[in-house]
Amino acid sequence: MEAIDWKNLPFGYIKTDYNLRSTFKNGKWSSFEVSNSEYIDIHIAATGLHYGQEAFEGLKAYMGKDGRIRLFRWNENAKRLIHSAKGIIMEPVSEAMFKEAVLKVISLNKRFVPPYGSGASLYIRPLLYGSGAEVGVKPSSEYTFIIFVTPVGPYFKGGVVPVNMLISRDVDRAAPQGTGTFKVGGNYAASLRALLAAKHGGYASTIFLDAKEKKYIDECGPANFFGIKNNTYVTPKSESILQSITNLSLVQLAEHLGMKTERRPVPVTELPEFEEVGACGTAAVISPIAKIFDPADNKVYEYCKDCIPGEKTMMLYRKLVAIQCGDEPDPFGWITIVE
Ligand code: PLP
Ligand code: COI
Repeated sequence: MEAIDWKNLPFGYIKTDYNLRSTFKNGKWSSFEVSNSEYIDIHIAATGLHYGQEAFEGLKAYMGKDGRIRLFRWNENAKRLIHSAKGIIMEPVSEAMFKEAVLKVISLNKRFVPPYGSGASLYIRPLLYGSGAEVGVKPSSEYTFIIFVTPVGPYFKGGVVPVNMLISRDVDRAAPQGTGTFKVGGNYAASLRALLAAKHGGYASTIFLDAKEKKYIDECGPANFFGIKNNTYVTPKSESILQSITNLSLVQLAEHLGMKTERRPVPVTELPEFEEVGACGTAAVISPIAKIFDPADNKVYEYCKDCIPGEKTMMLYRKLVAIQCGDEPDPFGWITIVE
């Protein structure tokens, strides 16, 4: 293999040695096929291609100083994939099957787990889609589950360097009572116009508002939003956002570190009150936000002086990363060691 520059890895795709595949046919899942191909053979009428019957997950494994590989909260991702599968009427993958796949695919690709201290990690991407042929709009009777890994660096350039975000006023990602809580490809397709507009404007990402009233903050592109004020970690409660596992963990950590937490609707009008704001997710980890621009009234909200992330944001970031890498004990039972 060509030498990988671990310290400068982008959040991108690099071919690894093996991926796993299983198919649900005639009422049962096949045992996993280990493949070294990056390609799949797919029926031209598969529902995953035509009607968006597709969901995925994203989780990470980290190399510790002790040379052991640590996997973060796989069971939460397993539960969320089941939630997504049920949401678009796909055959779910059981937690046990999900666990078997994650542990096996990491073990088979150990040489791609970035070294301790590189700032990079192994990103694990489980994918589930309708692979049976249908032409009418109905759920498939056949499903395929694939899991691959790829080593990644930070999602937002520079890692914990504060970024600027643009509020999306003319594109919605998901509707209340729609598919926003499911991790389905269609939500990401729906977000692309807004993401590109933000990128063209020089912003790292977009902030989506609730689609019904455009009054409340939903989430930040592929990450959840949080704001901090008066020692309180505040994060949106909404029917149209993905329940982030990183966010769930930050709420627990904030409480553990003596902060108060609130999960409730967050109006845009509250933005000036926050002392610190950020985006969080598996890919993004924590990305502090320096500036938010709202095109509705040309308002700019600023949070970082001299590009320095806020103190509470950094406290949460350091604690999370220390647990993920095994530098600090894991009092919450979040880590599974991969043998
Ligand atoms: N919101 C969206 C739309 C995402 O794609 C992600 C990434 O998975 C998140 C939030 C963050 O969720 P998690 O922390 O579970 O990765
Ligand atoms: C993740 O954080 O795992 C995501 O899924 C974000 C993304 C790259 C879609």
